[in-house]
Amino acid sequence: MNCIVDSKDFKTIRKIAFDTWPDAYGKIVTQEQLDYMLEKIYDITSLQHQQENLGHRFILAIDENNTAIGFASFSTYENQNNHHRLHKLYVLPNQQSKGIGKSMLDSIYSEIKKNGAGSIELNVNRYNNALAFYQKLGYEILREEDIDIGGGFFMNDYVLFKKVQ
Ligand SMILES: CC(C)(COP(=O)(O)OP(=O)(O)OC[C@H]1O[C@@H](n2cnc3c(N)ncnc32)[C@H](O)[C@@H]1OP(=O)(O)O)[C@@H](O)C(=O)NCCC(=O)NCCS
Repeated sequence: MNCIVDSKDFKTIRKIAFDTWPDAYGKIVTQEQLDYMLEKIYDITSLQHQQENLGHRFILAIDENNTAIGFASFSTYENQNNHHRLHKLYVLPNQQSKGIGKSMLDSIYSEIKKNGAGSIELNVNRYNNALAFYQKLGYEILREEDIDIGGGFFMNDYVLFKKVQ
């Protein structure tokens, strides 16, 4: 089951991020960069800022034991007509490959489709296995993007795009 949630669930989201990122990014970025990014993005005040000021909406995936096992966030993008941005999509390592990531994307598509046909884009690290997951689900590579995230660190990403209709 997937639910749209609010700030009372940010501690849970932070915990899932800290349990997922070492597995997802441990071989892609240094430990220093991993720690820097986790604190920058998943500090509770940072999550609140994303929700209150940037309009990000958060989704939790809940299993049959009522345990949170993944999360996602998305928002509309640059005031373009029903164009959206996926900011986060993470499933706990021991819960991956069970259809949970796809089901959270489907929940986001349902929200988007309430306003008619739309589209969604996202950034994925060029060396992340998740690239193949997105391509399998119909995302196309728009361009490469190297982003200076501060602290002397960069993210080497692809921007991916998919129509939602
Ligand atoms: C990427 C991620 C969100 C995918 O979620 P998931 O629940 O593991 O994936 P699903 O089980 O929903 O997979 C859906 C389909 O994609 C396929 N798939 C999943 N991961 C894949 C991969 N790395 N490469 C190729 N195909 C993949 C599955 O086989 C499945 O195919 P099927 O429908 O034919 O059975 C999840 O593995 C994850 O959290 N990874 C680590 C964090 C991360 O990198 N997040 C993305 C940040 S941009």
